[in-house]
Amino acid sequence: MAEENWVLTVTAQTPTNIAVIKYWGKRDENLILPINDSISVTLDPDHLCTTTSVAVSPAFTHDRMWLNGKEVSLSGGRYQNCLRELRSRASDLEDETKGIKITKKDWEKLHFHVVSFNNFPTAAGLASSAAGLACLVFSLAKLMNVKDDHSKLSAIARQGSGSACRSLYGGFVKWIMGKEEDGSDSIAVQLADEKHWEDLVIIIAVVSSRQKETSSTSGMRDTVETSALIEHRAKEVVPKRIIKMEEAIKNRDFPTFTRLACADSNQFHAVCLDTLPPIFYMNDTSHRIISCVEKWNRFEGTPQVAYTFDAGPNAVLISHNRKAATLLLQRLLFFFPPNSDADLNSYVIGDKTILQDAGIQNMSDIEALPPPPETKDNTSTQKFRGDVSYFICTKPGRGPVVVTDGTRSLINPETGLPK
Ligand code: DP6
Repeated sequence: MAEENWVLTVTAQTPTNIAVIKYWGKRDENLILPINDSISVTLDPDHLCTTTSVAVSPAFTHDRMWLNGKEVSLSGGRYQNCLRELRSRASDLEDETKGIKITKKDWEKLHFHVVSFNNFPTAAGLASSAAGLACLVFSLAKLMNVKDDHSKLSAIARQGSGSACRSLYGGFVKWIMGKEEDGSDSIAVQLADEKHWEDLVIIIAVVSSRQKETSSTSGMRDTVETSALIEHRAKEVVPKRIIKMEEAIKNRDFPTFTRLACADSNQFHAVCLDTLPPIFYMNDTSHRIISCVEKWNRFEGTPQVAYTFDAGPNAVLISHNRKAATLLLQRLLFFFPPNSDADLNSYVIGDKTILQDAGIQNMSDIEALPPPPETKDNTSTQKFRGDVSYFICTKPGRGPVVVTDGTRSLINPETGLPK
């Protein structure tokens, strides 16, 4: 390694994911080993993703990271575990054009700069850690010429945040809990890619919340320590659901997919309630969205939409096709219209073509929406203005990619600092 002040960078983009069979509870806190398998859908990175640029240079004196414009510490145990795993798997690297040669041994001494941005508001309470940790591991693995495949990288990302391991793949992903004490078999595998079930449309309702939420990490620790239900869930319920969910995804069986996803979300929130002290992630708005979907699904006789909620009040609604998503958006906008000072352009974001299909061009179109036919009795047509902050229209998406266009790097190639 020549002692020059070169800077070598890699930029990558990694999606976030939403679990339809939830991970909740660890059997090993340090290695992040779960008590059950889980299954997720990767979300389209065009609407929800993390972009991370990583750089290495002999001029860097210590590892540094900037997240959404602010410098954050990389000294936490989880980051350190990921960095240690990656350094031990790094390979020789030669960049002839720049005259750079790094040997496997050099990586032990070299330091990194990491600059990361989410393309969705962090304050939204959407799982940003999954995309963030997956992107950190994926981009550093590329920079360090780590030759392991995605399943091995998933086991490294898992040590940053459990759900991050599922963001190493697009489409439908299963995190196998594994049996080994060292966690070597606790990895993510792809069940089907994003093309497999292209009809699905996802609408996320970002619910306004004033409540400070319990983090997933401490919430699930409390559940494992205090809930009597969690063992039954992990041992009896989830293993059967995993088999059925894999079948439902394989066969694009939307009614079964919906039944399982909704039941699993509800059971996850039930074990949260069974925790001491009880954890309330959903709020009244979340419950109203569930009622709206349940009522509509029952009215149609066959499920139109599945719902699932993570460790917060936001609803992730999966419609079986565009037509159902259009009808869903009309219902959501009817019950949860924006405040009068809101702007439609920022109230429905992501794939706005669904808004056009729903015949909504301006705020007065929202006010003119008729009550859904399933609310004939008139008792349930009450509107909850301002209770949803905004909606994101998206779909299942692809896994991580390296961004080759150098102009999109977040790091200045001269200084190695954020642009
Ligand atoms: C409710 O992956 O955030 O989103 O492993 O402690 O970092 P740590 O927890 P995290 O937990 C996610 C929990 C969940 C369900 C899921 O994604 O499966």
